[in-house]
Amino acid sequence: MDKLLIEGGVRLHGEAAISGAKNAALPLLCAALLTREPVTFTNVPQLNDIGTLLKILAQMGVQVERDAAANRVTLDASGLDNPVAPYELVKTMRASILVLGPLVARLGEARVSLPGGCAIGARPVDQHIKGLQAMGAEVRVEHGYVHASVPRLKGARLFTDMVTVTGTENLMMAACLADGETIIENAAREPEVVDLANCLVSMGARITGAGTDVIRIRGVERLSGTTHRIMPDRIETGTYLCAAAATGGEIRLTNTSSCYLDAVLDKLMDAGCEVTPERDAIRLKAPARLTAVSIRTSPYPAFPTDMQAQFMAINCVAEGAAMIRETIFENRFMHAVELQRLGADIRIDGNTAVVQGVARLEGATVMATDLRASASLVIAGLVAEGETVIERIYHLDRGYERLEDKLAALGAQVRRLD
Ligand code: EPZ
Repeated sequence: MDKLLIEGGVRLHGEAAISGAKNAALPLLCAALLTREPVTFTNVPQLNDIGTLLKILAQMGVQVERDAAANRVTLDASGLDNPVAPYELVKTMRASILVLGPLVARLGEARVSLPGGCAIGARPVDQHIKGLQAMGAEVRVEHGYVHASVPRLKGARLFTDMVTVTGTENLMMAACLADGETIIENAAREPEVVDLANCLVSMGARITGAGTDVIRIRGVERLSGTTHRIMPDRIETGTYLCAAAATGGEIRLTNTSSCYLDAVLDKLMDAGCEVTPERDAIRLKAPARLTAVSIRTSPYPAFPTDMQAQFMAINCVAEGAAMIRETIFENRFMHAVELQRLGADIRIDGNTAVVQGVARLEGATVMATDLRASASLVIAGLVAEGETVIERIYHLDRGYERLEDKLAALGAQVRRLD
């Protein structure tokens, strides 16, 4: 079980390149199921989650050509003949549910394991199922699998009970090959939804409204292949910005964009950082000590839940007290007890955490519980005095490409222990 050893106290400085977005790559790879022609993706991040999804697609009959070093993947689903996503693979990567919509649209059937919960919450998929049923699919849940079938989906007016990112993505993909027009109301507005819509349109889909809360899709008979460059990872970008902010550093992140991070950049500036957006880069210069900033997570374009843990970490050493409200997931404060082991002053009350900044944290051994929680422990370890060992860092490897290399390039004293 790999561990990460961090010697804290170094102000991050220098440059690091941001990878393609995990949460754009996952739905995009599934979109290749919708066509018999090859689809090539560039700027694909090298992450465990990507590897897991490619395994799921390969066992369905998709030809996978991966040039990991070139961050390039080509998928050919002309031989797609197995509509099953098995539990043993799906349980390790919940976003595999994103094969459901494309399978039903392309093959008229799907048997996809229910993803099950994860550390941050129950993560139900009822909205995905409700939408497919509204489009005419017969869907039943049996023995832990979602069984869906229909000769051809029909366009419908869909309204999700809450904003759901992968729910919107699944239904948008399914609607591309449906008979007639589908309208998704209360749609997720995340940039990753827009990146997926742009790719689908380049494959011949007829989609308008992506990025707003009403997306219209007029179904077509078939889609063609394409080549698509995956957008930069805004959460990876925000994570490194927080690491520099917490350590009083000055960094420049390349191969990224500031235009998807307004809510996060505003909060970093409120905390006292100088943030300078460039064309494909962002620079940040931190003050000697941050000012505490309160946050409340909400769907895009408001403050993203995937940055909540990282901001809890920076508030641990900021001047003053901060209130953190988590409104998206029911159990996304597990990093708090680990941060307390490092000396943080955090009080949890339901979905609200109050963080009182302390003068310093002290290194200790801590345990990662989920992807973004582990990122917050890395940030805390970078500022803590002495050594911090983070256990179960397989969580990190799911969402951060070559994390220790990028941190080392920014001057951090960090290494992986087998
Ligand atoms: C996506 O998860 C992201 N994952 C998550 O990132 C992110 O935290 C989340 O959106 C919110 O922004 C990917 O894109 C692969 P939701 P998703 O459906 O789509 C409830 C990370 O760290 N809900 O938007 O699974 C749900 O329980 C990950 O990279 C239902 O009740 O999240 C949650 O409370 C973590 N029924 C809320 O809606 C449904 O059918 C939002 O969930 C669907 C969702």
